[in-house]
Amino acid sequence: MPVSAPHVFSTPRLVAERIEQRHYSELRMLDADPEVMKTLGGAVFEPEETRDSLGRNLKRWADHGYGLWMFYLADTHEFVGRGTLQHFPLDGIDVVEVGYALRPAFWNQGFAPEMTMAMLQIGFEQRGMSEIYALTLPANLKSQRVMQKSGLTYQRDFIYREKWPSVLYRITADEWQSTR
Ligand SMILES: CC(C)(COP(=O)(O)OP(=O)(O)OC[C@H]1O[C@@H](n2cnc3c(N)ncnc32)[C@H](O)[C@@H]1OP(=O)(O)O)[C@@H](O)C(=O)NCCC(=O)NCCS
Repeated sequence: MPVSAPHVFSTPRLVAERIEQRHYSELRMLDADPEVMKTLGGAVFEPEETRDSLGRNLKRWADHGYGLWMFYLADTHEFVGRGTLQHFPLDGIDVVEVGYALRPAFWNQGFAPEMTMAMLQIGFEQRGMSEIYALTLPANLKSQRVMQKSGLTYQRDFIYREKWPSVLYRITADEWQSTR
């Protein structure tokens, strides 16, 4: 397996730490917040669901050497949100997506694009990925704006996991390089 992605890294305003068991309470801040979960399946998670999700995210790191990071303000270490590079099945093919969710107090300050650019850099420049996808609900224009600002472009509408109507965005390694 290639070397692991960094467990800790910095962006201009944030520090990221790879998910560990000790991050459960911060994950709960997102999973139990109706405003955050409105565009992530619709319903808040029960504590049990957060524990399951934490377990799945630890396994992603073990399987692939990357996965979910927790992001904090660099100066105060206040928890801002989570970001991820993870696999999903696109028409039966295993591909990688970039994803993010932030506490509402930190919305509209450009943090999601900052997190996304850092994760794209890791995916393309450290892990040699050839393309990275992102997906969201058609009505989640804010998330689509984050994708556009991060260099991804709209591909098509599709149904995620045979259940959720979604929009699909993508950036290729060549496109990433051309923006550097
Ligand atoms: C979606 C989310 C990640 C955005 O993060 P953020 O850090 O606030 O993103 P930004 O600071 O770049 O701001 C959002 C951008 O969308 C724009 N925007 C906001 N509302 C919008 C709307 N209704 N229509 C179009 N654009 C909108 C903002 O103007 C801003 O773009 P700009 O910088 O060009 O002005 C954050 O709202 C969030 O965590 N939501 C809950 C979880 C979620 O939906 N995650 C994504 C699932 S795919």
